[in-house]
Amino acid sequence: MIELNNLTFKYREDEAYALDHISISFKKGDWTSIIGHNGSGKSTLVKIIMGINESYDGDIFVDGEKLTEDNKHQLRKHFAIVFQNPDNQFVGATVEDDVAFGLENLGMPRDEMIERTNYALGLVGMSDFKNHEPHRLSGGQKQRVAIASAIALQPEVLILDESTSMLDPEGRQDVLNILKKLHGQLDTTILYITHDLTEISSSDKVVVMNKGAIVLEGDIEEIYKNKTLLRQSNLKLPYTMVISEALLNGEYVTHEELVDKL
Ligand SMILES: Nc1ncnc2c1ncn2[C@@H]1O[C@H](COP(=O)(O)OP(=O)(O)OP(=O)(O)O)[C@@H](O)[C@H]1O
Ligand SMILES: [Mg+2]
Repeated sequence: MIELNNLTFKYREDEAYALDHISISFKKGDWTSIIGHNGSGKSTLVKIIMGINESYDGDIFVDGEKLTEDNKHQLRKHFAIVFQNPDNQFVGATVEDDVAFGLENLGMPRDEMIERTNYALGLVGMSDFKNHEPHRLSGGQKQRVAIASAIALQPEVLILDESTSMLDPEGRQDVLNILKKLHGQLDTTILYITHDLTEISSSDKVVVMNKGAIVLEGDIEEIYKNKTLLRQSNLKLPYTMVISEALLNGEYVTHEELVDKL
């Protein structure tokens, strides 16, 4: 779906690389979690994928086609992103208008627009706030609306850049469950950015970033095997990993399996 080939990027010429020779491909329909501590380059990477940061070196391919000045809008048409900070993402006067806005831009018939808006707001548990002003919502509620706006578009690629950071653990789990459903039903390609290793359990693939570079990639079991590298990348190991390391030779276990084994 998306392939990055030797991507490098600097914000300023005299600074270190914000992205340091990144080569990776994100397969169609895969859920990839990109994990790294503060400043490791995650947001820079997704901003380049979305075309917000330009002037990078290296190549980006979408469905095998190289991204150029001429085709970039066309190739990114089916990408949607939810940013870290929901405040800059609202365009509508009400929650409902806001979610419908992107659909209106696609020239969608009114009936379908209403149906998709209601469906997306229902998914994130914000139906009761349809007529509220987005600016008057709490941080977590804003994030839910931002996620609904992206989901309503039914994008082929959905990127979430720490978009659940303001949600409580339960709300975060709700969003992960919603993504799981989307991923299963619509075959959406998901790039889930986080610094929290407890959030990666549904991903097909995990990419660990540190200092602008990819230091590890693999499935969850492979990530579990590399605890030293995770620690070196300043990531906090979840308790399942720590206990598994101490008692189970470091094998991958879910919460439930761990409880069973103990
Ligand atoms: N607008 C900017 N101008 C200059 N430097 C920047 C800018 N944005 C990010 N950087 C630098 O680029 C590097 C990578 O930042 P980036 O925002 O991509 O990290 P991140 O992994 O998303 O971190 P976080 O977890 O804090 O969101 C950091 O060293 C940061 O200081
Ligand atoms: Mg970031």
